[in-house]
Amino acid sequence: MTKERDRGAGRPRLALSLLGGVHIALDGAPLTGFVTLKSQALLCYLAVTGRPHSRDALAALLWGDTPEEDAKASLRQVLWNLQKVVGAHVSITRQTVAFDRSVPHWLDVDAFSSATRAGSARAIGAYSRLAEAVDLYAGDFLAGFYVRDAPEFDEWAAAKREHLRQHALGALEQLAEHQARRGAYSTASEYLGRLLQLDPWREDAHRQRILLLYYAGRRDAALSQYASLRSVLQSELGEEPAEETTTLYRRIRTGAVERPVPPPARHNLPAPPTPLLGRQDELVQLTGLLEDPACRLLTLLGPGGIGKTRLALQVGQDHVDDFADGVFFVSLASIHNLDLVVQAIVDALKVEAGARRSAPERLSDWLKSRQLLLVLDNFEHLLPAAPLIARLLAACPALTVLATSRAPLHLRGEYEFPVPPLSLPDPGRADPPDRLTDYAAVRLFLERARTVRPKFALTAGNAAAIAAICCRLDGLPLAIELAAARIRLLSPEELLTRLEQSIALLADGAEDLPPRQRTLRNTIDWSYNLLSEPERTLFRRLAVFRDGATLDTVAAVCGPLAAGGTTEGADVDLLRPLGSLSDKSLVLRKDGSNAAVRFTLLETIREYAAERLEASGEGDTVRRQHAAHYLALVEQVAPELHGPQQAARLAQLDAEHANLSAALRWCSERDPTTGLRLAAALWQFWLLRGYWSEGRGWLKALLRRAGSDAPARVRAQASSAAGHLATYQSDTKAARALLLEGVAIWRGLGDRRGLADALHWLGREYAS
Ligand SMILES: Nc1ncnc2c1ncn2[C@@H]1O[C@H](COP(=O)(O)OP(=O)(O)OP(=O)(O)O)[C@@H](O)[C@H]1O
Ligand SMILES: [Mg+2]
Repeated sequence: MTKERDRGAGRPRLALSLLGGVHIALDGAPLTGFVTLKSQALLCYLAVTGRPHSRDALAALLWGDTPEEDAKASLRQVLWNLQKVVGAHVSITRQTVAFDRSVPHWLDVDAFSSATRAGSARAIGAYSRLAEAVDLYAGDFLAGFYVRDAPEFDEWAAAKREHLRQHALGALEQLAEHQARRGAYSTASEYLGRLLQLDPWREDAHRQRILLLYYAGRRDAALSQYASLRSVLQSELGEEPAEETTTLYRRIRTGAVERPVPPPARHNLPAPPTPLLGRQDELVQLTGLLEDPACRLLTLLGPGGIGKTRLALQVGQDHVDDFADGVFFVSLASIHNLDLVVQAIVDALKVEAGARRSAPERLSDWLKSRQLLLVLDNFEHLLPAAPLIARLLAACPALTVLATSRAPLHLRGEYEFPVPPLSLPDPGRADPPDRLTDYAAVRLFLERARTVRPKFALTAGNAAAIAAICCRLDGLPLAIELAAARIRLLSPEELLTRLEQSIALLADGAEDLPPRQRTLRNTIDWSYNLLSEPERTLFRRLAVFRDGATLDTVAAVCGPLAAGGTTEGADVDLLRPLGSLSDKSLVLRKDGSNAAVRFTLLETIREYAAERLEASGEGDTVRRQHAAHYLALVEQVAPELHGPQQAARLAQLDAEHANLSAALRWCSERDPTTGLRLAAALWQFWLLRGYWSEGRGWLKALLRRAGSDAPARVRAQASSAAGHLATYQSDTKAARALLLEGVAIWRGLGDRRGLADALHWLGREYAS
């Protein structure tokens, strides 16, 4: 709410601005007609206190030095004057006088107080309310307004002035701190400049401003800030600045102060490749919920493909500045282990790996002092992890969680928000074409159709068919995207006919599904059936990837598509069907800024592809290839994890983290020996990234499953690695046992290098 809006909206007749002087206006024009200053003083007093006062008290307030009868007579005269000038706003009885708050008016002191109050709550939007408050603070309360011979009024005004000024100082300080934390040094220094105008004595603020100006690249201004501090102290107190301030000044002068490290990123939201369509009402409602301090867990609910993720990303984007520590997105779709939920959050927030403390402890410690929105995407398959989120919310008072899920988390205090379909035309009414674009579903259809047929347009001829397609698809964004992709070859009328035929045909198999899910399922089925054989094969096989894969990997794992082909040159072979799947909205292309392009599937679509893969009987073969590929990759990359390529190699493995987990999961069921090799090669990655319990979990399970089938060298490697990770977790007993086992196997193998490493770790374990 801005000053303008406050004044403008209800067109208040009377506006009282008492901060930075007294300005009283009626309908926008300065109000005249006050017989004395005391008339104005009384009006201010009544408006600010806002409660009834006895005539005796008011007489004492303004004429305390005058005999009682004279005072009362003066008061009568002033009241008579007020009644004439602002009669609608004061109610006067024989005993009491009050400002009538129910009559529309505007009082800057009230607006200021309500903004500082809202700003000090931990609610979202708090900082913009504080900024509003300091904008309202045009100067001290009743600055320059002196009423002679009214000591009691003076006393009241002085106390009020001091109170408001402390609030303004507090707000300026908080704003400066907030801006500095986000790296907006120039803005932060402006706030401190305003603070120093109000209170030039605060040496700490001067010092802070010197530093901020320097950080903002204004070295000269920083140095003159020091000069002005000196002159303030000299002229008023005859003192010199403190040692700390002078040292800072000297260091800036000689260039010895380091530039600040850039502040941590305020969000990690992936940029959506296309603009959001519709959803205005939903965004307003969701903002309202987030502004409610009681709402700390908000779940966007709905079937696959309805647009939960897309909406959550937009909410996050809209509120990045409302959360002091930003907004962070965590994709949980490929997480299968409850322990890894915390790890995924820790990774997204980049919480530093701390010494010997568990990930949940580090996470809640880190979040405890932060005001942050955590977006947890695809929670539905992790519902047993919900209590963990409850614990996190209880431990971290300024944390808010926005989850997307196909089912509620069922936690106390959870706000459920069912995401509706996109807005749809009424199927029974023939809207004219230009009205149809009011509906988000129609706009989505048109936008997606244009990506495959740039000249495609809504016309009087095809409007009815397009409206019918959107309705037939229940306004489900994913279904609309899949259908629109077919516009390259079919007219809307043809598309509608085929959709209706095939959906009627397909509907039989899916009767147990809820209606929208059935629509989606049928639409995916329909898209799939229209694919060529090589496209189908590739599409199914892509289901083995989690978080997508690069073209090379897709070629190695999914090629060749035709029986008897080779993987030689398979990437070229795959480009065409991959491009075609992407045109059909079945595959997404993600262009990372500096990483290779990755091909991914939306979760609903991946689940469908996985079903098809199992039905084709190829599941095991492809998953075996997937595991073999990642084993080769990790064995190649691992030796470089300790060299100059470390950062690049870690980033490479980070990008494949979900694929690596998927490969390990498959191996532990179907091929533990390969799994153990993979785990033994991966352990340094786990160590460096702090994924200690994840790593130990895999090593332990795979050692047990692979047993003596695994080559001794691999077992030695795995035992030593597990022992080393156990040391990091302070699990002394297990660490020693595992390391000793490793030592024994290395010794049996006569491998001096392996033995040396294992003994070294064992020694360190005993020493620690
Ligand atoms: N309002 C919208 N504007 C434009 N595109 C949208 C909109 N809503 C959804 N989409 C698109 O529709 C597809 C499905 O949406 P989304 O992935 O958000 O669904 P979801 O509900 O999260 O599904 P799942 O449960 O499978 O995770 C995506 O390609 C998304 O970009
Ligand atoms: Mg989603």
